[in-house]
Amino acid sequence: MQPRERLIFPLDVPHKSAAERLIALLKDHVGLFKVGLELFVAEGPAFLQFLTATARVEYFLDLKFHDIPATVRGALARIQAGARLATVHVDTGRESLNPAPEVRGSGVKLLGVTALTHLTADDMEAMGLAREYARDLPKLVLLRAGIARAAGCDGVVCAGTEAGAVKAAFGPEFLVVCPGIRPAWAAVPGDDQRRIMTPYEAIKAGADYIVVGRPIRLAPDPVDAADKVAAEIEQGLKDRSGA
Ligand code: C5P
Repeated sequence: MQPRERLIFPLDVPHKSAAERLIALLKDHVGLFKVGLELFVAEGPAFLQFLTATARVEYFLDLKFHDIPATVRGALARIQAGARLATVHVDTGRESLNPAPEVRGSGVKLLGVTALTHLTADDMEAMGLAREYARDLPKLVLLRAGIARAAGCDGVVCAGTEAGAVKAAFGPEFLVVCPGIRPAWAAVPGDDQRRIMTPYEAIKAGADYIVVGRPIRLAPDPVDAADKVAAEIEQGLKDRSGA
């Protein structure tokens, strides 16, 4: 796998034409495009068909399902070929995480979202989480990663700060995808991410994929920024294998 193939770029834009521009610009510089709530609500499944049939790229369908088992399974079963990754919140419960056979048929890999990277220990405690977990987010993420794995998920989404613990506990095959990535050279105005790491740090810690949005999208030269992230990924891979 080329280093850039580990770079996931979120198409966090409000409409298709903005997404099309970014796809044309970055297609050869990132590994996978991510479709999240903003673009999906704006453009719907037709945009996913556009990605597959016209842009000819696979995508990460990051809709972070969180609902009762029947609703989540129904949504998972409608995922079409072309989606390489999809997400379900782990705290939606074990039964909702258990993927329907039809979903496996489409070839999508399912990731459990453990604890969003904008949340801090204070946020978790304020929402009623036991202190033992709120004050020790790697412990919470490990607990939820175990639930995701037992339910049949292919991996998890977690912060780079937790990637090493998940890899150590669940082995190399269980995918770790890390958002909340902030290169040292990129400033994001009004940033909402909290549990952050650089691309180099997250990959070195064991992430299989990193999600990098605003540091690339808002850069004066997004192609150059993506290439710089890929170079950090390459260095992180070298250093983690001791090469
Ligand atoms: O790099 P940037 O902060 O712009 O990336 C934002 C993207 O990361 C959004 O698409 C958001 O949905 C995603 N994200 C995620 N899981 C988190 C935090 C952010 O998938 N825990």
